[in-house]
Amino acid sequence: MTSAPAFDQHIPETAARTVEFISLSHLNPSTELNPIPTRGIDPAYFTTYVRALEDGGYDYTLLPYGSGTADSFVTAAAVGQLTERIKPIVALRPNTTLPQVAAQKLATLDQLTEGRAVVHLISGGSDAEQARHGDYLPKERRYARTSEYIDLLRRSWTEPAPFSHDGEFYKFDGFGPGFAPYDTPIPISIGGQSDEAFQVGGEKADVFSFWGEPLDDLRAEIERVHAIARGAGRTTLPRIWVTFRPIIAETDELAWRKAHAYVDKIAATFAKSGFGKQIFQQGSPQNVGSQRALSFADRADLYDRALWTRTAAVTNAAGASTALVGSPETVAAAILDYVDRGADLVSIRGYDTLNDAVDYGKYVLPLVRQEIAHREATGRRGTLQAEHLGNYTEDYRRYATAGQA
Ligand SMILES: Cc1cc2nc3c(=O)[nH]c(=O)nc-3n(C[C@H](O)[C@H](O)[C@H](O)COP(=O)(O)O)c2cc1C
Repeated sequence: MTSAPAFDQHIPETAARTVEFISLSHLNPSTELNPIPTRGIDPAYFTTYVRALEDGGYDYTLLPYGSGTADSFVTAAAVGQLTERIKPIVALRPNTTLPQVAAQKLATLDQLTEGRAVVHLISGGSDAEQARHGDYLPKERRYARTSEYIDLLRRSWTEPAPFSHDGEFYKFDGFGPGFAPYDTPIPISIGGQSDEAFQVGGEKADVFSFWGEPLDDLRAEIERVHAIARGAGRTTLPRIWVTFRPIIAETDELAWRKAHAYVDKIAATFAKSGFGKQIFQQGSPQNVGSQRALSFADRADLYDRALWTRTAAVTNAAGASTALVGSPETVAAAILDYVDRGADLVSIRGYDTLNDAVDYGKYVLPLVRQEIAHREATGRRGTLQAEHLGNYTEDYRRYATAGQA
């Protein structure tokens, strides 16, 4: 058993002082637990879903993108119209849209939502998926393109007069001034874990994103991207986004029963062909994020307080897959462990998508926010992390291994 670190009143130096929550917007009720053969949007479900995120107190929602999915700009615009506060994050692959055009679309979204637009740049993790849209650049060149793209997005939003550009990937004359965002430039996030992703993210991104990893590994990755940022002379470091798929129930024991039942269903879904994600990823994944998730899953099922990797193993780590398992208190404490390591944007999305979004909003977000408020008011850590030790106790470990072959 991993022994519990000290969870005393001392707030670690690496801790983020604020936390915001992200979720991913689902367009229809199909899930990995219960796949419904549809590629379509269920407008009533989508409306209920994004309003549940808004009511649940989430700050952002990601509109994902793939060659065969709904268009993330259009779904983001819908989120903007269906909500008043939550910020839509457009997943955008540079190969799909010229930078000046993307800048214009994002600024339009930003004005329509009075400053809520965010963009998440996806350089592309699979050559086969990129080829579906005619993009044949190898991955390291795709990141070089992303780097040029970021510069052009920002210039398109801020240049007061027409400008021309003659770069490695883009060339144009006399563009601008472009359509401007609502007030400040739109935050740019980077997804990807390869060396090139770190380079571009460290040099240029406002936000750098990860899938859930063991605490020490994530901390090392945060230091890596921050070191690149400092080396590039930045005084504002990229914010850190980390994504989990929590499995919660009233108690740790009940959460584990649920987790074991879930993983069997998820494995069955992925074993059958045709589930959406298999379109993206078959065989060994080319993207480093998935490779890392699979290597953590190879080494152990459970890490730290509540991180479970079986869900990554059975899905070939196609997309965010690592879970946090436990009662709301245990999962909130586990999230705070990541906050203590420097994560300030926490994305949580369940396997039972809508129900989980509602439950996290009711039971998890308030606990994390309460702890952050306590820290802010007193300068000391509260007791949640000391009282809900999860995997640092024998009982939890017993629940985790019960029901396993
Ligand atoms: C939080 C997060 C969200 C992501 N969303 C998407 C997405 O919507 N569509 C997609 O194709 N890839 C998405 N990715 C995957 C990676 O960005 C992609 O694999 C990357 O371009 C290349 O991976 P690599 O640098 O890890 O090798 C996401 C990654 C992260 C961390």
